[in-house]
Amino acid sequence: MLDWNAYDTDVDDHAEVSTANPNAALSPVTAQPSLVTPTPSAQIPPAPVSEVTDLPPSVVALAQAAPKNTNDSLERVTVDQKRMINCRADLNQLVPFKYQWAWQKYLDACANHWMPQEINMSEDVKLWNSSDGLSDDERTIVKRSLGFFSTADSLVANNLVLAVYRLITNPECRQYLLRQAFEEAIHTHAYQYCIESLRMDEGEIFNMYHEVPSVARKASWALKYTRAISDPTFTTGTPETDAELLRNLIAYYCVMEGMFFYCGFTQILSMGQRNKMTGTSEQFQYILRDESMHVNFGIDVINQIKAENPEIWSEEMQACAADMIVDGTHLEIEYARDTMPRGILGMNANIMEEYLQFIANRRLAQIGLSERFSGARNPFPWMSEIMDLKKEKNFFETRVIEYQTGGALNWD
Ligand SMILES: [Fe+2]
Ligand SMILES: [Fe+2]
Repeated sequence: MLDWNAYDTDVDDHAEVSTANPNAALSPVTAQPSLVTPTPSAQIPPAPVSEVTDLPPSVVALAQAAPKNTNDSLERVTVDQKRMINCRADLNQLVPFKYQWAWQKYLDACANHWMPQEINMSEDVKLWNSSDGLSDDERTIVKRSLGFFSTADSLVANNLVLAVYRLITNPECRQYLLRQAFEEAIHTHAYQYCIESLRMDEGEIFNMYHEVPSVARKASWALKYTRAISDPTFTTGTPETDAELLRNLIAYYCVMEGMFFYCGFTQILSMGQRNKMTGTSEQFQYILRDESMHVNFGIDVINQIKAENPEIWSEEMQACAADMIVDGTHLEIEYARDTMPRGILGMNANIMEEYLQFIANRRLAQIGLSERFSGARNPFPWMSEIMDLKKEKNFFETRVIEYQTGGALNWD
């Protein structure tokens, strides 16, 4: 049974801290100047924490336990001071950029904005309601996919907003994390939009993550890696706590988003290629493109943390990371077997197993580890085509044009 209640209660107690000012979570004493930055002509000293009477004791404890931020010096930040974790420079100064790739990913994500209501679901509704439109196995795949994803994206968003964001101490990466968090909200919206359009039993779908074993096992595997760092008193700054954060990032970016999404995506997109559930499939195509960027961003963050903190990338940690990816692969293979007891849509569980092993090898290589599934090949090259940005420009052409004005700085 998943225990989200304890998780939520702890975090709600500190909601004001995390939403008002990210630095407030670091230390109320030092955060005051960045909340209301004093001008040179009005040198009003910040109120000491003892004078702030409406802070609950739990918030003060959180602030005192967190690493000290040097914002109180009001100095201008230089690139050399910026670090992915444990940075002591002012986190409100977005520039100068140290990680240009993070800013570029933020711009790319904004340029491809989309909303679920833009997609016509009428053909799906007709097909879903017709008595002979879909086989029982096809209906199971649609329900299982919506069942897993409708809550999985919430798990990802909660992990980002309530745990990871506070611990990544770089403003350009935080900018991308904010964008990613919004995209996760759009994805949950998209699944809800499909569930509502098809008039599915919402209780059945939204409870699959703790009622259907192959779905629940994936959700609880991911939750296991968020518990420690979602404790509001958790901070990085020691090799052990830095490694805990790194394990979380590997669990969520390499496995949850980088592995657990792939069986369901492939099944639904394959259905769309056969002209079935084309609206749902189009929603999944947009989501897959976003997810592919999330994974790439996460892998860049993981590799940057490794480069800046080589002491935590020990042999033991490398073995742990590889085992996590292999574990995740086995859970996704189990999910494939559960959702495809027979061959369907030009695929079967054995072909899916090879695809998942191929992806696992890729994730291992992306974070500098050796492959664990020798000889695994990609049986679905069309999936890579959907994720490929150049091809997607075509696919997303209308929306790219429509939304680009908001991001363009060309006033000529
Ligand atoms: Fe998502
Ligand atoms: Fe994602």
